[in-house]
Amino acid sequence: MAAPAETWLVLGGGSTIGRAFAQRAAAAGAAVLLAGRDVGELERSAADLRLRHGVPATSVLFDALDLDAHRGFARACATLAQGQLNLLLAFGTMPSQADCEADPAVARRMVDTNVTGAASVLTALAPVLRGQGGGTVVALGSVAGERGRPRNHLYGATKAALGVFLQGYAARHARHGVRVLNVLAGPVDTALTWPLPKLPFMASPATFAAATWRLARHGAGQAHVPRVWAPVMAVIRALPNRIFNRLDL
Ligand SMILES: NC(=O)c1ccc[n+]([C@@H]2O[C@H](COP(=O)([O-])OP(=O)(O)OC[C@H]3O[C@@H](n4cnc5c(N)ncnc54)[C@H](OP(=O)(O)O)[C@@H]3O)[C@@H](O)[C@H]2O)c1
Repeated sequence: MAAPAETWLVLGGGSTIGRAFAQRAAAAGAAVLLAGRDVGELERSAADLRLRHGVPATSVLFDALDLDAHRGFARACATLAQGQLNLLLAFGTMPSQADCEADPAVARRMVDTNVTGAASVLTALAPVLRGQGGGTVVALGSVAGERGRPRNHLYGATKAALGVFLQGYAARHARHGVRVLNVLAGPVDTALTWPLPKLPFMASPATFAAATWRLARHGAGQAHVPRVWAPVMAVIRALPNRIFNRLDL
């Protein structure tokens, strides 16, 4: 078997979307590195990828909150990768707005994970991408980051902050061949959304991963997945406050 031309490092390799994306990448012949906290579970997923698709797949310990470990983690990933290393940022937490307001520690942990952890690990991995002459970074942002809604504006704020970080990261590393795509995700049927009532235009993880995989091949900047959210969010962003505030979204 020929050595893979690329390795996808899935940060949050145990996430519902991360696992579905890893299946797409492996089906296309890419090697996969699943990074997360539960290495035993990730190793079972890696074994499944190896068996189904005949590609190299392995697991690596990663905790977004363990900032001191991120540089060593990046070096380990560089060693494990075959061909070009590409990244999918697929970890995050979304406690309810009510839980965040009731306990500042809950809110802080979300910000630390979704913003600080994401910025830290991407910064640690930047020299690896530059050193290999480029690479693709796909991050799972959210429509929640496009306009602050009463029901989840703290989570939305973390995704908005991630989006601004990614803009600057893309500009900073573009001349080194790094391409960055922020996927503005609508609701996907995953562990993250199970506590919520049924949401409109809810995508299945497999459909979402397939669309994200297609975009990951050439896309840059930001893109809505599913695409229906582009016109929907254009309307939501344009609503005057007097109407938006009454909707209690
Ligand atoms: N589902 C949606 O509707 C939706 C919409 C927009 C954006 N997104 C984004 O998509 C990404 C994936 O979410 P999902 O829907 O697939 O949800 P999920 O299945 O609940 O996955 C969340 C993942 O984040 C990981 N995680 C949490 N804290 C971590 C930490 N400190 N270090 C490392 N990993 C950590 C969890 O790991 P453990 O297994 O170790 O807990 C879990 O695997 C998230 O960034 C989410 O914000 C999802």
